[in-house]
Amino acid sequence: MSTNLQSAAVRAHANIALVKYWGKRDAALNLPAVGSLSITLEALATETQVRFDPNLAEDDISLNGERSEKAARRISKTLDLLRDQTQISTKALVVSRNNFPTAAGLASSASGFAALVSAAAQALDLSVSDARLSEWARRGSGSAARSIFGGFVDMAHGVAVDGSDSIARPLHEASHWPLEVVIAITSEASKKVGSTVGMDHTMATSPYYSAWVDGAEADLAAARSAITARDFDALAQVSEYSCLKMHASALAAHPGVLYWNAATTNGIHTVRELRQQGVPVFFTIDAGPQLKAVCEPSATAQVKAALAAMPGVQRVITTAMGPGVTRIEDFA
Ligand code: PMV
Repeated sequence: MSTNLQSAAVRAHANIALVKYWGKRDAALNLPAVGSLSITLEALATETQVRFDPNLAEDDISLNGERSEKAARRISKTLDLLRDQTQISTKALVVSRNNFPTAAGLASSASGFAALVSAAAQALDLSVSDARLSEWARRGSGSAARSIFGGFVDMAHGVAVDGSDSIARPLHEASHWPLEVVIAITSEASKKVGSTVGMDHTMATSPYYSAWVDGAEADLAAARSAITARDFDALAQVSEYSCLKMHASALAAHPGVLYWNAATTNGIHTVRELRQQGVPVFFTIDAGPQLKAVCEPSATAQVKAALAAMPGVQRVITTAMGPGVTRIEDFA
């Protein structure tokens, strides 16, 4: 393989789940206990360059200009999946940066691992399907499987023991129903309880966990129909339902896991009041304190103004729906 084929750079976008993933059916392969459904976000991007270099004794990994041993271990393990595929042991230089706060419930691991496997596969000149990339991304982070694709994305929990069917697939292009998202940043700090720890603890101790799993398929079906029909109210109902059930299962763990702060809770009330007044908006919240308000583009300015004016909201990010992974030719 010639040297110039061993380097590639890509951009991947974060996503937010409208029907949530919470819980694993296999920890080693990182297989989700439930399916999930997401939208990919234009404004939240990770850019990653991977270069396989025979002169390196170890993977050399920098994230936003910093080196973290814990993150590097997880990234090296994911790169090993691709190295095994090509039966090479060459180490890689990985340079990755986010244009948004890392590890604060803004799905940096989703765009991060989707970018990593895509850049590494391109660097190794592997001709693999998007489904396979989605499977590898999932090994790094469950939600990353969805960030391979743009628009509305459907992630299967799958049934295969080897996880080959625990992959995402594109459901509709963003142009089918170009929703927008206003993200209220209520804290820039790294979250205290990561999603894997929060899920494991919920599975092990929450009496609500089995009810959460039992309801997932019906929620997915309702969300798919709402999206196909562009029925905003139906999508609002099922998305808030899924989000609140996920958090309720975590709250009922022992001890309870609470990802929200006061501004997150106030944001829920603000969004619901707006919707009651006829504004097409609903909320969703992941394993962190940021509130994400999904709305029709006609409502974005009003939603943004309402959330930005709330005490405890540090800033707001507005985004359209975004594409899947794209190659970057001029990574600098
Ligand atoms: O991809 P992970 O392991 O960080 O888990 C993501 C979990 C949630 O963001 C809370 C829900 C989801 O489906 O993205």
